[in-house]
Amino acid sequence: LSRRSLLGAAGITGAVAAAAGFGAGELVEPKAPTALTTVGGDAVPFHGTHQAGIVEPMQSVLHTAAFDLTPGTGRPGLTALMKRWSVVVAALTQGQPAPGAREDHVATDAGPNSLTVTFGFGASVFAKAGLQARLPEALAPLPAFPEDQLDRARSDGDLWVQVCANDPLVAFHALRTLQREAAGKATVRWQMNGFSRSPGATAHPHTGRNLMGQIDGTNNPKPGDEDFAAKVFVPAAQAAPAWMANGSYVVFRRIRMLLDSWDRQSLTVQERVIGRHQASGAPLSGGTETTPVDLEKQNPDGSLAIPGDAHVRVAAPASNQGAAMLRRGYSYHDGFRPDGAPDAGLLFIAFQADPLTGFVPVQRKLARGDALSRFVVHESSALFAVPGGAAEGGYVGQALLE
Ligand code: HEM
Repeated sequence: LSRRSLLGAAGITGAVAAAAGFGAGELVEPKAPTALTTVGGDAVPFHGTHQAGIVEPMQSVLHTAAFDLTPGTGRPGLTALMKRWSVVVAALTQGQPAPGAREDHVATDAGPNSLTVTFGFGASVFAKAGLQARLPEALAPLPAFPEDQLDRARSDGDLWVQVCANDPLVAFHALRTLQREAAGKATVRWQMNGFSRSPGATAHPHTGRNLMGQIDGTNNPKPGDEDFAAKVFVPAAQAAPAWMANGSYVVFRRIRMLLDSWDRQSLTVQERVIGRHQASGAPLSGGTETTPVDLEKQNPDGSLAIPGDAHVRVAAPASNQGAAMLRRGYSYHDGFRPDGAPDAGLLFIAFQADPLTGFVPVQRKLARGDALSRFVVHESSALFAVPGGAAEGGYVGQALLE
């Protein structure tokens, strides 16, 4: 970049340039401002086989919330709500105001910023809407895990909403619009905010880091893998119940990190807790971030390169009859607790075709033998059925509600 183009990009012109000591030959003409990136204009389609917000790369801002139906809403009210929410989200995700909105300066001012909104149904909504016959077996309550310290008021819920975008105002505006549109039918039960890295924040586009400093998400199933869909989505042909065709199940856990005790550990201990190097994300068995983990590899002294209780060993599909899930969690920070410790950690969000063969066996094992469990506390928990995507002109949950 020349000095001249730098000046132009910064919008510095004539007098300012002269005052800044630049010669006449370097004066630049005023130019229309140019967007630095295309982040704002990026749009993710709302309609499709699967709901958006599952396989897309993570955006930088998350709001997640559960709503409970207000008494008397029932199936007609729930149907009307899902229809209206779908219409509204279809517009907002394309950078348009919600149809019928009185005024909407956020939607008309900002681009969609990759906004996605993902909806789910909790087990409790089925009885309230007279839909018990359609309750999936996979929505059976998650078992109690040892060491869970769950706050029931911030767990479960009738409906789940996941809002993700690359701009905080766009994300809040979508969440607020959903809440306003739910008036009289459903109220917010709990709501939490998360974040991930901003687009363009780093020149090293490796997997993101969590608040413990680890590269997190490396061994996730990849959309290009042959068995990716089978791991994440309910197959259309064998869906039981049928309305879950192309849907998924999401497990949500608010997991607080005990960052004070974590920070007191040496790097060697921290890396042995996970089984990967912190800087590069490479497994302790060798290679780079993407080298497959070698659980058999031994150190020269005969000890396991990846310790017996390392998180990646205990969580690996190889240790859990192939159990797999797509983790799409966000960091959170809600200030400091009375004892001064950060109220911060991971909003764990994992999508899978069946939680009974995905999250449940893995968490059972982690709760018993994961070295990481000494540094985390599970504070909230929820499980939702995430139906398939809406067709053009249709709405999310249509196959359940009609
Ligand atoms: C892997 C961190 C909770 C399941 C990893 C990795 C890190 C990590 C750094 C290695 C990189 C990667 O492959 O993504 C954390 C932290 C947690 C947490 C900080 C809590 C605050 C959980 C929970 C589960 C889970 C609750 C599921 C019950 C997995 C799985 C892998 C993994 C399946 C991939 C293992 C493999 O195949 O190599 N986690 N994790 N994690 N984690 Fe966690």
